[in-house]
Amino acid sequence: MQSENGTTLETYLAERKALIDAALERFLPKAEDGPEIIHQAVRHSLFAGGKRLRPILCVAAAEAVGGDGQEFISCACALEMIHTYSLIHDDLPAMDNDDYRRGMPTSHRVFGEGIAILAGDALLTEAFHLLSCPEFTRDDNTEKRLQVINLIARAAGTAGMVGGQVMDLQGEGKTVALETLEDMHRRKTGAMLAVSVVSGAILAGATAAQTAVLSRYGQDIGLAFQIADDILNVTGDSALMGKGTGSDLSRGKTTFPALMGLEVSRNRLAELVERAAAHLAGFDHRAEPLRQIARYIMERNR
Ligand code: IPE
Ligand code: IPE
Ligand code: MG
Ligand code: MG
Repeated sequence: MQSENGTTLETYLAERKALIDAALERFLPKAEDGPEIIHQAVRHSLFAGGKRLRPILCVAAAEAVGGDGQEFISCACALEMIHTYSLIHDDLPAMDNDDYRRGMPTSHRVFGEGIAILAGDALLTEAFHLLSCPEFTRDDNTEKRLQVINLIARAAGTAGMVGGQVMDLQGEGKTVALETLEDMHRRKTGAMLAVSVVSGAILAGATAAQTAVLSRYGQDIGLAFQIADDILNVTGDSALMGKGTGSDLSRGKTTFPALMGLEVSRNRLAELVERAAAHLAGFDHRAEPLRQIARYIMERNR
């Protein structure tokens, strides 16, 4: 897998992840800032070693339309903060009740439920603080920034991630129709992935036509990503993934493998990934990382 300048996807992901991690370190309150416990909790989850896929998609989409991804790193970091908040809350006893995340004990296990809830709240709030801070971005186009804030808020809220999480809880122990399952997955996971792509593109000056195509790419990889997550919950190696496996079945979650079996789920995943890459046909070599990320979503083992 070679991209434009001969770097492999692995190198591309590692380089972008390093930039994002360094920026997150700059943007976050220090661990010793008071009250210390909340900043320690925020940092515990954020720096536990996530793949940084959402911020990388934001940067890669900016690059695909000819922008400099580094310019929009604050938006990329805000997306990772919202995602990390969603994971902290997803793992709470009242939700999935999970003990491990990103290879570490979950926030509520280390800090207690109250602080874990507040760490999620802090990350969500801090993300919008960052998105609305003019000094953290070199993009002086307020209108574009406002549009991005609006889209991210929508993707994170009841029309997107929160709505999907509600459907996920309501579906426990029930058989859910395939159409409802797809809707749930598109909301709980797809919406934040799609908006990551769209945000980077808009900030970097994509045309409306480019943004529409990249949004379709984002929606397809978004659904694909959650199908892969469902499959990995059955077949994955929990040590590699840094989180528990088998939990969907024990909690009676409706997932793609539970509803359609592993083989049909894998076929659906492959179809979505093909279609996602096909959306990018009109883009040049600068969209190569996005094409390769689509395949990575299918082939990943963590
Ligand atoms: C896990 O997301 C939760 C889902 C939305 C399926 P990731 O697999 O991107 O988790 P991290 O960020 O790498 O930990
Ligand atoms: C997580 O979905 C989705 C969000 C946090 C929005 P899951 O509950 O299926 O993901 P994992 O397996 O815990 O990472
Ligand atoms: Mg969940
Ligand atoms: Mg979960």
